[in-house]
Amino acid sequence: MSLSVVILAAGQGTRMKSSTPKVLHEISGKSMLFHAIDASKAICDDITVVLYHQASRIQEEIEKHYEGIHFHIQDAQKFPGTGGAMKGVTPKNKRTLILNGDMPLITKESLLMLTTGDAEINMSVICLDVPQGYGRVIIENDKVQKIVEQKDCNEKEALTQTVNAGIYCVDTSLLEHYIPALDNDNAQAEYYLTDIIKMAVDANKTVEPIYVKEEEFKGVNSKLDLAHAEEILQRRIKTEWMKAGVSMRLPDTIYIDSQATFEGECILDNGVSIQGASHIISSHIKTHSIIESSQIENSDVGPMGRIRPDSILKDTHIGNFVEVKQSTLHGVKAGHLAYIGNASIEEGSNIGAGVITCNYDGKNKYKTTIGKNVFVGSDSQLIAPLNIPDDVMIAAGTTVTKEVEKGSLILSRTPQKSIKNFFYKFFGNV
Ligand code: UD1
Ligand code: CA
Repeated sequence: MSLSVVILAAGQGTRMKSSTPKVLHEISGKSMLFHAIDASKAICDDITVVLYHQASRIQEEIEKHYEGIHFHIQDAQKFPGTGGAMKGVTPKNKRTLILNGDMPLITKESLLMLTTGDAEINMSVICLDVPQGYGRVIIENDKVQKIVEQKDCNEKEALTQTVNAGIYCVDTSLLEHYIPALDNDNAQAEYYLTDIIKMAVDANKTVEPIYVKEEEFKGVNSKLDLAHAEEILQRRIKTEWMKAGVSMRLPDTIYIDSQATFEGECILDNGVSIQGASHIISSHIKTHSIIESSQIENSDVGPMGRIRPDSILKDTHIGNFVEVKQSTLHGVKAGHLAYIGNASIEEGSNIGAGVITCNYDGKNKYKTTIGKNVFVGSDSQLIAPLNIPDDVMIAAGTTVTKEVEKGSLILSRTPQKSIKNFFYKFFGNV
């Protein structure tokens, strides 16, 4: 299809009450704008993002993740508003799909719906019980007449429950005529993109309302909207993964990032949080555990385990209150209360309760490598950089600071002392 997409993201987003630009607020681990870009990229390759407020910050963020996106900086001083945002934008294809950058629930399928048929303008319309916040779509004799912004509505118009969802598919040639002709004669003294509808109707062009679901076209203007949109997206993400065979106990208590993926038979207990682009394969993540951007295969974690970014666990058992960070564990058992950071541990090794890889000296981080069949006794500290070869036993309470030999027992303890009858001397005979 010969289609261009323009995403409007220049607004300040004052209603968010935040120093972060509105469109960079995240929903399910991905910024609102990236949700819109991903849906757009799935249907076309000419995408322009319009920026103004904190433009360089947003552009940098986009360029870190995407290639080939065009940018247009709005002259928002002279031409504020969604119509002003379109001034000077030159889509290269015959039809242009314009969407707001604050619609994170949009999908490729719903965008495609807007491109069907042969009307000169398709516009997205939602029917709402409470139309609060949206522009009202005035329809007479089944024909769209115009869009009136909430702030410009008279009493009757304000009651209209048919609202503008904020996505339009327009013949590019119409935009070339209508955008320069927009004025700002309205309550907000802004150039409204929505005024092109009346222009088209007056010129006898065909304007087709496409009725869509609020679930997918919800605009996010406040932190409250953001939380509602997240709930909707979470429900959608979890439904898809359950259909694909992931078991979830009390799914309403589980969080899954939009980039997380599952394979094989996975079980997620209540309160689990799967963050970032984690990949979970045939594993059981138990109550209140957190997995951050890590790969977990054929393993179990928790309850209350925390696996921090860039960890790879395979055939491994992680028990309660164990924290793992940037570590690779193959065939390892760490049942209770340990910190494993910047480490790689091989098959058959056991990490006792209270073991700490001391990876940080206050300036730099260092690595710990542990070979096969190493038994690390409880409450031991492994001072990195450190390499422990295969078949080593480390006695409970040992501080390991030096290289050790394969097959040895390591222990560093002050010898035990015993003072006879001290208790009775101190407390008296009870
Ligand atoms: C807009 C529509 C309204 C519709 C609603 C749907 C207009 C005039 N109104 O209202 O009819 O019901 O979306 O969600 O279009 N933006 C710019 N430059 C600007 C102003 C805004 O790029 O000067 C961008 C914003 O970053 C945002 C999008 O346009 O992504 C929409 O702006 P917003 O202020 O949220 O418009 P609404 O008041 O929600
Ligand atoms: Ca909005």
